[in-house]
Amino acid sequence: MCGIIGYVGKSEAVPILLDGLERLEYRGYDSAGVAVVSPESELRVVKTKGRLSVLREHLEQQDPLRGTIGIGHTRWATHGEPNDTNAHPHIGQDGKIAVVHNGIIENYLEIRELLERKGIIFQSETDTEVIAQLMEYYYRKLGNLMDAVYAVLGRIEGAYAMGILCKDFPGQMIAARKDAPLLIGYGEDGNYIASDVTALLRYTRTVTYMEDGEVAVLTADGVQIFDQDRTAIDKPRHTIEWDVSAAEKGGYAHFMLKEIMEQGEAVRKTISPRVHDGRVVIEELAGMEPYLQGLRKICIVACGSAYHVGMIGKYALERLLRIPVDAYLASEFRYSEPLLGDDTLVIVISQSGETLDSMAALREAKKRGSKVLSIVNVVGSSIARESDITLYTWAGPEIAVATTKAYTTQMALLILLGVYCAECNGKIDAEERKAILDEFDKLPEKIDGVLSDLKIYQEAAARYFNQDSVFFIGRNLDYALGLEGSLKLKEISYIHSESYAAGELKHGTISLIEPGTLVIALATYTPLIEKTRSNIVEVRARGADVIAVATEETAPYVKDQADELMILPKTHPLLQSVLGVLPLQLFAYYVALNRGCDIDKPRNLAKSVTVE
Ligand code: G6P
Repeated sequence: MCGIIGYVGKSEAVPILLDGLERLEYRGYDSAGVAVVSPESELRVVKTKGRLSVLREHLEQQDPLRGTIGIGHTRWATHGEPNDTNAHPHIGQDGKIAVVHNGIIENYLEIRELLERKGIIFQSETDTEVIAQLMEYYYRKLGNLMDAVYAVLGRIEGAYAMGILCKDFPGQMIAARKDAPLLIGYGEDGNYIASDVTALLRYTRTVTYMEDGEVAVLTADGVQIFDQDRTAIDKPRHTIEWDVSAAEKGGYAHFMLKEIMEQGEAVRKTISPRVHDGRVVIEELAGMEPYLQGLRKICIVACGSAYHVGMIGKYALERLLRIPVDAYLASEFRYSEPLLGDDTLVIVISQSGETLDSMAALREAKKRGSKVLSIVNVVGSSIARESDITLYTWAGPEIAVATTKAYTTQMALLILLGVYCAECNGKIDAEERKAILDEFDKLPEKIDGVLSDLKIYQEAAARYFNQDSVFFIGRNLDYALGLEGSLKLKEISYIHSESYAAGELKHGTISLIEPGTLVIALATYTPLIEKTRSNIVEVRARGADVIAVATEETAPYVKDQADELMILPKTHPLLQSVLGVLPLQLFAYYVALNRGCDIDKPRNLAKSVTVE
């Protein structure tokens, strides 16, 4: 979703802004722009629809934009179509104040009408222009920029992270945040703001996360932060452990492929700090045994792929804990008046830690008296900070919009958590615990093994990349896995695809199966393999082509029914989906490659969705 970068220092701002925006491209955007205050105190803005390459061309066609202070933005359209005028930065009528903004100003229409009645003429259809115009209005009226900033913040409703420049203060950048991520970076050569740490890694690893209601004033020499009452505050600085190479392609054609290939290592980093001497150790839950023993229900809440992890969690945790576990879409959960209380644990899963629906669900759960445990990848993100307990996946930065290593590490961590809770509650014996943990130990190696030979996925993709429609079927954990396989395929290849519980197909969807339709049958779940086989036979009887994903153990049951058979090493049934998703990610990747799609930045999608 939209990205913000800002710089004030001793170097030229535009190259830094463009570099930062490039690193934010992965969030998804449809237009981009920059603003600088020149040494002559002129505010200059260049912005355009389209990719950053178009913005670069525009910049080359004009007098160089000089200045050591600037803000930049990649926009993912919400209010107003993606065009040059609606792109950020937005400036006020007097041309004094420029604003970049992420989030949505909910009462923008009312403020716009009010300002229009006062004769202010708007250029764009955006909610963001309201901020710039209102700030200039207050600045004219109050004569003090900070008074104007606080007046605007008091008047607008909704979510925002914003960077502000004013040509009357050519050495000063202002930042404000509420319900949208924004951090401050401290560099040797100046100071920065960014919506995402990846934009800053090249310049600094020392950052401060802004909290809701805070306002920061940055100059080349320092940063002052104020709370919502305008009191100056000291905030801790954090050191980011990720290095620059973690956010670069490192020789791979796409971030997605790089991140697929990193999964063995990523899962190792998730598991190894949490397994000691044959036991799961989750330090963040130390001393919480009585609480965990009193649990009567678990609700897993998430969006997109993280929700699919939640579906896996429903099957796995219910089996381990023998209490009801349900997975909910965060966008539904938050408005469903959920039945919660102190005996229900709400688990929020989010790679970015910034997904607005998941954040809102978290707040709803806390309001209703439940503890929230989050499984998050991005350290210091909003969901991580607002949860009662946060478990990090330690997967490293994930840049491709289509998630891969975040998904597998979330799944591994959720199951590890299940084993930990089962032990606390006396629901697992030493033998079963050992069986699972032994397999956890071998999991990274098995992942690397699967990823060491990509030929079968490349060949299957070359054969089937022209399909109009693909169906995924599976039972139990394989059903949950199919949801993710189907999403991976459709989000990056744009092939229509659906996923069904294998036993449900005959209740309607089987009418869509005709000769040549591709069905991807997930057949890794041993206890139900004979049932799954019957469902494969049903679609074969209607002419479907079948790719079966099986294990060494289940392959004999399905091999005579498969046009392509992908065989995975066997592991503990609860962990099988961690391996099972690998062929699905790779198939989706190579299909999209064959179709010439923009794999890392699929159309219309955003990596981190900070709107409802
Ligand atoms: C977006 C992304 C998905 C992701 C979902 C949840 O829709 O495109 O890939 O699964 O958000 O994101 P989160 O950061 O909360 O895991």
